[in-house]
Order: sequence, then C-alpha cells, then structure tokens
Amino acid sequence: MCGIVGYVGKQQAAPILLDGLAKLEYRGYDSAGIAVYNEKENKIDIVKAKGRLQALRDLTGDGQSVQGNIGIGHTRWATHGEPSVVNSHPHFNKDKSISIVHNGIIENYQPLKEKMQSRGLEFISQTDTEVVVHMLEHYYSGDPISAIIKVMHRVKGSYALGIMFKEHPGELYAVRKDSPLIVGTSAEGNFIASDVPAILKHTRDVYFIDNLEIAKITENSIEFFNEDREPIEKEMTTVKWDIEAAEKGGYEHFMLKEIYEQPKVVADTITPRIDNGKIVLNELNMSDEEIKGINRIYIIGCGSAYHVGLSAKYMIEETVRIPVDVDLASEFRYRNPIMDSNSLAIIISQSGETADSLAALREIKSRGIKVLGIVNVVGSSIAREADNVLYTWAGPEIAVATTKAYSTQLVACYMLGIHFAKVRGQIDDTQYDEMVNELNALPNKIQRILGDKERIQWFASKYSAAKDVFFIGRGQDYATSMEGSLKLKEISYIHSEAYAAGELKHGSISLIEDGTLSVALATQPALYEKMISNIVEVRSRGSYVFALTTEGNYNMEDTSDFTVYVPKTLPCFSTSLAVIPLQLFGYYVALAKGCDVDKPRNLAKSVTVE
Ligand code: G6P
Repeated sequence: MCGIVGYVGKQQAAPILLDGLAKLEYRGYDSAGIAVYNEKENKIDIVKAKGRLQALRDLTGDGQSVQGNIGIGHTRWATHGEPSVVNSHPHFNKDKSISIVHNGIIENYQPLKEKMQSRGLEFISQTDTEVVVHMLEHYYSGDPISAIIKVMHRVKGSYALGIMFKEHPGELYAVRKDSPLIVGTSAEGNFIASDVPAILKHTRDVYFIDNLEIAKITENSIEFFNEDREPIEKEMTTVKWDIEAAEKGGYEHFMLKEIYEQPKVVADTITPRIDNGKIVLNELNMSDEEIKGINRIYIIGCGSAYHVGLSAKYMIEETVRIPVDVDLASEFRYRNPIMDSNSLAIIISQSGETADSLAALREIKSRGIKVLGIVNVVGSSIAREADNVLYTWAGPEIAVATTKAYSTQLVACYMLGIHFAKVRGQIDDTQYDEMVNELNALPNKIQRILGDKERIQWFASKYSAAKDVFFIGRGQDYATSMEGSLKLKEISYIHSEAYAAGELKHGSISLIEDGTLSVALATQPALYEKMISNIVEVRSRGSYVFALTTEGNYNMEDTSDFTVYVPKTLPCFSTSLAVIPLQLFGYYVALAKGCDVDKPRNLAKSVTVE
C-alpha cells in the first residue's frame, strides 16, 4: 500500500513527483501529497489533497506552482486514519523542518506516541507515520543519518521512508525495512521510488535498497549505509522494462491492455526457457538427484497467486505424481505447518512484496526448506530472499486486478511440472514433446480467444445488473472458477462465489433462483458429463447459464443459455485458456457498470502490510 517517489536534480521537482505518483496510483489512491524544498524562501512547501492524484494536480497546476528541485511525494492507501488531508503524507514536525513519506506500518506507534504525548508533544493526524517524524526531530542534532539510525532501532514494523531535512537542503534520505524502495540514477538527477514504473520515464538504472539500509542521495551522488553507519557498495541494475510497457498505449484501461498483452508475455516467459524443444530451467539450481528426492511441494501465495497454485496443483499432481499442498500465505504463516524436510516450497507473487507471502517464505526458510520464488518484479524482496527465482516476464502490471502476471505464473508452473515429470520418469519422450508443443501453442490460442471478445462484451453488458453470480467447475475448472469469480467481484462489486460443482447440492444450490447467473466451466473431458448434470440442476432451478467449454463440445448449447468456446489444449493446461473469457467478462461487466476498473475501491495492488 502507498507509493513513494523522491527526486533531487536539475529539474523542477514537483512535476516529476506527480508524474511518478501517477505510475504508483495502483498502490493507493485515496489521497496524495508532495513536499518540496523551496530554496528562495528556505522552507519546505507541503501540498496535500484528498482523493485521486488529479486533485493534487489541480491544486498545484500539475506541479508548476511548487518551486524547488528536491522533493518527496506519496500516494496513500489508508490504514491508520481515514483518507483526509491531515492524514495524507508527507508528514512533518512542528516547524516543518523535517518532512517524510512512509509506506508500511509502524506497529509500535501507539506506545511511542503516548510517550511523546506525555512530554507535551501534539499530534495532528491519526497516522502511525507521524510518530516517525517527531522521533526524527527528537534524535536530530545536525546529523540526519544518526537520527535515522536511532529511529530505526526504536520502531517496529515495516517501512520505506523518504526523508528531507530543511537544514540539509540538497539531500534526500531513504531507508527501508520490509517495504520496497529503489534508487534510480540519471544525468538529470537521482530518484527514490516504491517501484520502477515511477521513474522509468527518466531512467532504467536502479539500485535496490536492502532491508535496514539507508541511502543518502544528492543531485550528483548516491551513498548507502548499513545500520552501523558503515558505507555499503552496491551494484547498479539496468531494468529491462521499457516505458511503453508502463503506459496505457491507447487502451481505455490498463486492465484491458494487460489482458491483450497476454499472448506476448506468456510467450516471453516460455520461449527463452525452451532450447531445441527441451525445457531448460537453469534458474532452479536443482540437480536431477535433488528433483528426484522431493517428497512434497508446497505452493503459497495470496489472491490470484494462490489461485495459480490451485490450478498448478492439479497439473503437477497429475503429471509429476508428487503431492502438492496449496496454502494462502496469511493462513500458512500462523498455523505452524508440519512440513516434510525433503520438500520444495514455491512462493508465487507478482510484486514480490506481499507481506504475508514474504512472512511465509521466511517461516519456510527458518525450517531449512528450499524456497523457489515465482516472481514478476526483479529485485523484489521475495526474489531476493528466495533460494532461487523463476522470473515471470510479464513486464509491469499496473491494473490492480491481475491478468497477465497470473497467466505467466501459470505457465511457469507448467514448465516446472513438465520438467519434474521428465526428470522423475513420469512421462516418456513422446508425452514430453506433446506437452512442450502444446505449451508453445498457448500464446496463439490465447490470441484467438481475444479475437472473439465482442460476444463476451455483449453478454457482459446484458448481465451488468446481476446481483449474485455463481462460478462452478470441477477439477482444474474449479480452480479457474475461483479466479473468474475473484476477477468479477473485485472490479464490478457484484457478489460472486466459486463452487466445486459437485458441492452445489450440499447447500449453495438453495441460493439459485429465477434468473440467477451461473458461469459453468466444462473444459475437462473426464468431467464433462458430470458438469452437464450440474448445469441441468441449476438451470432447472431457474438459473441462467453461461457455459465455457472446449471447441467441439457443441452439444453444450442444448444445455446452456450462452456458450463460449476455447480452443482445445491438454486438459492440464486448460486454465490458461479458460481464464481469458472470464477476465474479459469481469472487465466488461465493470465497464458497463461504470466502475473504476483499474483502481477498484478499497483495494491496492501490492499489499505490503498484513
Ligand atoms: C493483491 C492484488 C491481487 C494479487 C494479490 C497478491 O490482492 O490485488 O491481484 O493477486 O495481491 O499479490 P502478489 O503481488 O503477491 O502476486
């Protein structure tokens, strides 16, 4: 939650900060603010506005009215205190000589705040962040770094902080623990940001700040220190993402653009890992002997990443014959799980910063079990802390509702499954070749589905007034249903549930009444007839049925009211295709309802707090 950006250089800072914040709005968008050092008047100017970033743009004439070449900015997703001007960042001390922006949660802010209040200090906001700026003032005696270190040693929780001291006008400070923060460098100046898209317009050369490290940044220099104040040498990384990838490029929404990018990014994730028809996963750093020694696989994630795990479980258990446990990271981390020591844990995460997934990773590592990250954001916390990383090459994903990252995570799991199955002798050469060929064919098949979007758009506009929607499926279709249901509810605010079709009769079928929409998935040949029976059951109770099945199953039209076909593929890869019409359905329903598709209410893309 929350996005941070900072700039020091030759240019006017405010327009750069606002541009950067626009790229971080996916992290939070209920208020925004900037603080810029005004050299002429020797003061820090702070402007904040409640609501979308546009309100701050309007207030500052797109930043033109705020003078100065060094500043920090913030876009907020409220946790402590309602969205309001006073609670929005930057926060400042009484005489506005120190100003900060914060992403994360200061867990012990209450006792710290009470202690300061008992000394007569007044707090003006309800945020946890304000305590940090007052502590900085308390410990500051001319040296910013020593004040920052003292604060680091007293606060608990997570933080990425951008800090300015009026007495050090050309200097920007940054520090982080468990919340993302990068430093970017260019000839025009230097930057801090929560995420790469915020600074892509200016540079692709970045440094990753590690936990409990401090950065001191001026126009011409970047220095890093550890919490003992020792200097640290860091290597610069050049990020491959290009700027177009972080722009809407003519699409009405990022979500639609990202849905349309799927054929490309799925191919980008698969193709570099296939050499002469063979899957090569050097990143795994696992010998065949190690792969043969795995007794169990744990897959852990949140939200859609968890749903990828559910689909992957079907694929991997069927193909590799290793038991797979799939867990929500928020549950896993607190349930003291019993883990097989000869196992592999896989953490799936687009951002690589999700707090619960990161905590699960640490829990697993503390038990001596190897962790593989399937991660999209290069250099993110999960990517760095996992033993090995299989990067998905989805590029920057901006829409809060994930689409392309989900699709790349799926194929990364399939590749792992095929490779393990081969190494463990579960599939022969012919089956292996068939699977690899089919994997390679997925991008074109996704493209074909996208070509048929008008029918789904028409149907979505017809059903945009629905109150409840049920998604049903069996086997892998059940896992896909969960993702389809989530897509619909998170962006259209229509209540929706996913059920294993066989479970309907154990309760939820009582909710079906005349006109209730059921989305029934039937892509699994072995379960097709059973699904037909389930569709008949809901339809005979008045449900209107949108069926999703494979080309060739044309008798589905006798049983359903509206049918969408996806190309044939191996049943174990079906989610990759079936999810596409469901993403389009969610998108077009939300669009027809006039919802803010890319920034649904109450949600943030990267959940870096618990
Ligand atoms: C948020 C996003 C979801 C995402 C989940 C996990 O809830 O809205 O789209 O699936 O976080 O995020 P991660 O970055 O770990 O994949």
